This record gives sequence, C-alpha cells and structure tokens, in this order.
Amino acid sequence: MKITVVGTGYVGLVTGACLAEMGNHVLCLDVDPRKIDMLNAGGIPIHEPGLEEVVQRNAEAKRLEFTTDVDRAVAHGTLQFIAVGTPPDEDGSADLQYVVAAARAIGERMTDYKVVIDKSTVPVGTADKVRAARAPRRSRGAASRSSTRWSATPSS
Ligand SMILES: NC(=O)c1ccc[n+]([C@@H]2O[C@H](COP(=O)([O-])OP(=O)(O)OC[C@H]3O[C@@H](n4cnc5c(N)ncnc54)[C@H](O)[C@@H]3O)[C@@H](O)[C@H]2O)c1
Repeated sequence: MKITVVGTGYVGLVTGACLAEMGNHVLCLDVDPRKIDMLNAGGIPIHEPGLEEVVQRNAEAKRLEFTTDVDRAVAHGTLQFIAVGTPPDEDGSADLQYVVAAARAIGERMTDYKVVIDKSTVPVGTADKVRAARAPRRSRGAASRSSTRWSATPSS
C-alpha cells in the first residue's frame, strides 16, 4: 500500500520506517529541508535504538523515501498520516495549527480517495477541525471528484 507520513519527527519517522518494514511504500514529508537532506544522505536526525538499520534497509529497497515536495506527498499515499508537532499552547492545550496546516495542504491538492489519519496527539473533536480544513477545495466544487475518510488513532 502507498502511504504518506506528514511530519518526519520522532513519531513520523518511526511510524514511516515501521510501515515500510511491513512492505508498504512509504513517503515521508517534512517542511524542514535539513532533516530531509540528512535522511536522504543516509543519516538519522533522532536517537532511537535500531531505527537506523530499519531506515537504511527500507530506503535501499525503495520502500521508504523522504521529500519536502508537498504535491508529490499528497499524490503518493492513499493513507495520509498526520504526525506533526502539537506543542502546548499558552493555556496548556495542544496547539493544533500544524495539524490544521497539514490537513489544509492535503485538502487543497487531493484529487482522489484519501484516508487522513491524525497520528499526532490531539484532543477529541480534532477530526472535525481537520475535516473542515479542506473546505476551500470543497467550495470550489471538488467534492464530487474526490472523497476522504478522516480518523484519529489513539496516541501513546
Ligand atoms: N515524541 C514522542 O515520543 C511522542 C509520543 C507520543 C505522541 N507524540 C505526539 O506525536 C506528535 C509528533 O511528535 P514528534 O515528537 O514526532 O514531533 P517532532 O517535533 O519531532 O516532529 C514534527 C515534525 O513535523 C514537521 N512539520 C511541521 N509542520 C509540518 C507540515 N505542515 N508538513 C510537514 N511537516 C511538518 C516538523 O518540521 C517536524 O519535523 C505530537 O502531537 C506529539 O505530541 C510524540
């Protein structure tokens, strides 16, 4: 299965590497070009025992790729995992701006069926915000050309 992981940090990189190890074709997207350059050069930006071997094995097999190209990332995966950061807001609640931005980027570009999965740690009700984030494209009449399922996965 073709899978896109949006956000290649601690959670996104481990998720992408494990999904590739299971035989999926995974494309990991990040807005940080230094991180993507490092990964494409065979480096690992985080410390996670055993991860480097899994990433290298799957990158060599072309099951795990890294990009900053949003168009390519949205086109790639039927499953779109959102694994961007949700830092605490001033009042301690999760700041969802990166999650919403990622959802909007998907909604603006998708032209076929996608399942969007909130992998980031988010409060109940976030799936509704994520669904609403694709409203601009819907209002341009795209709803009949594409469809999306939105879900939230339990986070550790
Ligand atoms: N780190 C953990 O152990 C852990 C455990 C459980 C849950 N979580 C949750 O998982 C989520 C991610 O955490 P993390 O530690 O992996 O964060 P992180 O900061 O390590 O990684 C997030 C990545 O998302 C990228 N990003 C931000 N906006 C983007 C966008 N629009 N498109 C593409 N990439 C974008 C950032 O550049 C960064 O590389 C958070 O909600 C966190 O609370 C983390």
